Amino acid sequence: MQKAAVFLFYNLLIRFLLHSQASLTDCTPRKTVNFQDANLKTFAEQGISNYSTLLLSEEHNLLFVGARDAIFALNIDNVSDSISQAMWAVPERKQNECMYKGKSREKDCRNYIRILHRLTETRLYVCGTNAFQPTCDYMVINNSKIELENKTEESKGQCPFDPTQRYASVMVDGEFYSATANNFLGSEPILLRSLQNSLRSEYKTSWLNEPNFVHLDVVRESEDAPDGDDDKIYFFFSETAVEFEFYNKLVVSRIARVCKGDRGGQRTLQRKWTSFLKASLMCSSPDLNFPFNIIQDVFILRAPNWRDSIFYAVFTPQWGKQDISAVCAFSMAKIHEVFKEGKYKSSVTVEQSRLKWVMYSGTVPSPRPGACINSDIRKNGFKTSLDLPDRTLQFVKDHPLMDDIVTPINNQPKLIKEATKYTQIVVDRVVAINRKEYDVIFLGTDSGYLHKALSLKTEMFIIEQVQMFISAEPVQNLQLSSRRGQLYVGSPSQVLQVPVAVCTRYLGCWDCVLARDPYCAWDKTTSQCVEISNKNTEVLNLIQNIENGDPSACPSYENFKTEIQMIVPGNNLVLDCSSISNLANMQWLLNKRVVPATNSRYIYFSDGLLIFNVSVADEGQYDCQSVETVAGKPFAQVIARYLLHSVHGPRIDQQSIPTRALPGAKSAVSIMPTSPGNTVRIGNLPMTQSYIQTEFTLKGFLVLFVMMFILLLAWNLYKGHVPMLLRPSRNGNTPRVPPTLLNNSVQQMEEKPPSPKAPELQDTLSNVDIPLTCITSECSVEKNSNNNSILEENTNSSCARPLFVLDELDYIDADQTESKA
Ligand SMILES: *[C@@H]1O[C@H](CO)[C@@H](O)[C@H](O)[C@H]1NC(C)=O
Ligand SMILES: *[C@@H]1O[C@H](CO)[C@@H](O)[C@H](O)[C@H]1NC(C)=O
Ligand SMILES: *[C@@H]1O[C@H](CO)[C@@H](O)[C@H](O)[C@H]1NC(C)=O
Ligand SMILES: *[C@@H]1O[C@H](CO)[C@@H](O)[C@H](O)[C@H]1NC(C)=O
Ligand SMILES: *[C@@H]1O[C@H](CO)[C@@H](O)[C@H](O)[C@H]1NC(C)=O
Repeated sequence: MQKAAVFLFYNLLIRFLLHSQASLTDCTPRKTVNFQDANLKTFAEQGISNYSTLLLSEEHNLLFVGARDAIFALNIDNVSDSISQAMWAVPERKQNECMYKGKSREKDCRNYIRILHRLTETRLYVCGTNAFQPTCDYMVINNSKIELENKTEESKGQCPFDPTQRYASVMVDGEFYSATANNFLGSEPILLRSLQNSLRSEYKTSWLNEPNFVHLDVVRESEDAPDGDDDKIYFFFSETAVEFEFYNKLVVSRIARVCKGDRGGQRTLQRKWTSFLKASLMCSSPDLNFPFNIIQDVFILRAPNWRDSIFYAVFTPQWGKQDISAVCAFSMAKIHEVFKEGKYKSSVTVEQSRLKWVMYSGTVPSPRPGACINSDIRKNGFKTSLDLPDRTLQFVKDHPLMDDIVTPINNQPKLIKEATKYTQIVVDRVVAINRKEYDVIFLGTDSGYLHKALSLKTEMFIIEQVQMFISAEPVQNLQLSSRRGQLYVGSPSQVLQVPVAVCTRYLGCWDCVLARDPYCAWDKTTSQCVEISNKNTEVLNLIQNIENGDPSACPSYENFKTEIQMIVPGNNLVLDCSSISNLANMQWLLNKRVVPATNSRYIYFSDGLLIFNVSVADEGQYDCQSVETVAGKPFAQVIARYLLHSVHGPRIDQQSIPTRALPGAKSAVSIMPTSPGNTVRIGNLPMTQSYIQTEFTLKGFLVLFVMMFILLLAWNLYKGHVPMLLRPSRNGNTPRVPPTLLNNSVQQMEEKPPSPKAPELQDTLSNVDIPLTCITSECSVEKNSNNNSILEENTNSSCARPLFVLDELDYIDADQTESKA
């Protein structure tokens, strides 16, 4: 009962947190690039799967790929070009042994290559699961050709047994650090250093408690250390918390570290880490230690001075909605401080047997437990960890957990993204035209999307999402070659190469600048969106505005599609116009005045405008305008224009005079024939957006409802309960429109015959031409000669979807509460 109450309390807190933050930072990607348009280079070999291990080798111009039973060397500039390969399958005998232990032959008893590290310029270290008998080998590179040396040795603790288990490893100066399971069952976790100076972790739940290893990396802290400090290896993982009391197993994320120069203890902690310390990593607001408690991946953005480095990490929650992710950034300086000066946690026994972890407030032995051997410690006669006194070693053995928590920069997540589960993260630091550096974050999802986000001081802006696979599959590995501007993706089915930017995808100056893509700028001389790295320092002719995405420096006139259409009275007319941005609102102008969406003669849909029963009075210039709000300022731009002319006398075929379209604009925009009896076409909708799906669902229901209504009506008419409502239209030429629309237009015909100057239209017009609301103070009314009238629609461009419901959380946890109660 009490537990249920505690849970409810947390639940409410989570709710509050997510409500307040989701609206703050949940961002819709500005652009969606479909699989067909992404046009990526791929690699997959017949019969080989699970391309999950990647190693970039800029020195050889190769990308090494570890797959199931095989290793490949691919051309780093074109992964479709496979240079050489080495097969490493499991012998029949080993496979049988594996099967006898109850594992599946096809799934488990194969050799999943899990580790690929550079040892020397011509030699790699390679490990595979090898049918639940992890094995490592060396591989030589000779003229881009790879060959295994066949010096295999069993490698417990270096590589996982189970291919589905998470692990992490890094090679530092010829020493191999691994974090994985040390036994067949996967129940004994280990942090191991091997190849030279072997050391391992203590097998104690206070050290590691059912961990899930995520990342391992070195920070060269000795490079600028006035106190003669050592380099450190950082481990990232999630584990079951020992320090919290909760009715359920509570997972926490940790950062742990050891010193590179650690040699273990003399008696205590012999051949074990004497410098193992860990701290909690928090990715949420200060009010709460979760919900984003499970770390998924980490990327260290290295700065020239290691203190300025930033650890970017993605997190997901343990409970509730599983498809929500957060990105947090942690400063190296903060992490360093926690380990160097933080307090320790200590366990005390309460109520006979229960252990409670509290802050340790007694005296801490000297030298400081867990500290690397620095000049001070050396001065006191402790040359290596082997010289450390037992008191220090016993203390660190019993108190590996710091009381201080590593909190994110700004004490909150940089981004919370719903309906998305991020699996991988890499970060690129890009110098923009204003000479400032911006962090561009690439995030891989569990459904095969790549999100590209711009990290600003307080917010993140998702520039685009790229659909990388035909069918959904998880991004298992993501590597960045900053120099080449390429990303490499490992997945169950293939390897992909994705450029960091495709500037030519932006249509026109406005699109190019509104995108806020630090890699791209608008070149005024060539009238193209160009990659700035390809440009010399000649930036005078380039337009870019990362901070605000303000396109006002763009030429006021942009080329857009113009079409002339003839009016055939009595028909319904569709004017096509697809949005170029997910953040834009479409707006139609008739002779430069806004066509109100509230007028029932017009229907705004995602791909254009529908006009019912056009008449001579509908003549005029129709402009499709895209209105996008950046940094609180709305910007409007005409992207298509239609000129409607009436013809007198018999029906005349409409003509189209396509003028110069936007560079790269899809030419698929077709003209709706205005012949009698046309039907309404609803354009193909980007299915990735759940709100559009919702819209679809709603429309579906509406159609169903109306159809039922019509059936009922028909039945009643047939039965003679109701007098005829619909009179047949002129020439018996009833427009074939969906029932919903029919209903709408009928109503219109009966009640408000459209007049050239419908009073309703006029009324709304006078209101719409000027901004309606402005929440941001800097938002101002601007008018541009080229009808760039600015109006306010949504207040926050990047975070346009405040909707958030956590019903699933209630549901799942209510169940759990019950079963536990
Ligand atoms: C990449 O390599 C593949 C296979 O060798 C080749 O067909 C393709 O043309 C190459 N692409 C480029 C851009 O060089
Ligand atoms: C590299 O391969 C060539 C043959 O292709 C061989 O002659 C040479 O000895 C090899 N080099 C090394 C270092 O193995
Ligand atoms: C190792 O074995 C593989 C396959 O049996 C063979 O292709 C390769 O040449 C061998 N490597 C050496 C260095 O003998
Ligand atoms: C290997 O790939 C297949 C699909 O190709 C996938 O179903 C399976 O889960 C993958 N196994 C591992 C261990 O990644
Ligand atoms: C279309 O509008 C005209 C007026 O412009 C009206 O007379 C006519 O009845 C309408 N047609 C239909 C089918 O509603």
